Amino acid sequence: MKPTNVQRMKLAIISTALLLLLPFVILRTPVSAAAGQDQTGAALYGQKCAGCHGKGGQGMPMWKEKGQPDFTSASFQRSRTDAQLIESITGGKGQFMPAFKNKLSADQIASLAPVIRSFGHK
Ligand code: HEC
Repeated sequence: MKPTNVQRMKLAIISTALLLLLPFVILRTPVSAAAGQDQTGAALYGQKCAGCHGKGGQGMPMWKEKGQPDFTSASFQRSRTDAQLIESITGGKGQFMPAFKNKLSADQIASLAPVIRSFGHK
């Protein structure tokens, strides 16, 4: 009988501990969801943009010849507002920058502007 009681005690302690932890897990969820949004921007950039703009936003020689800006350049960063970046991503630009309005949601497009900005802060 004794080992069973010890096991029951252990089970009770573990269950109590889990119940006590539950509110913290629930409270933490919005925080990790907010952090997930930044990751979405960076992950989207990696999937949809890095192929043409480079992982670090510096651009690609073959596209630069065709007028692609270098996102690491301070003068490029100064020359555009966030709204203009979002507009170019949404509707495309020139002959070669594709429009993403049918491929990404407005929220996803908005999450890319800070990613473009982050390349300027290096
Ligand atoms: C097929 C290659 C290609 C892909 C994919 C691409 N771009 Fe571009 N992007 C370009 C080129 C080329 C330009 C230069 C367009 C011009 O000024 O004529 C450009 C320009 C831009 C600009 C500058 C617009 C301005 O105001 O001058 C931004 C911002 C941008 N791209 C963001 C993105 C983002 C974000 C993605 C991914 C969702 C993306 N691009 C995907 C080729 C690409």
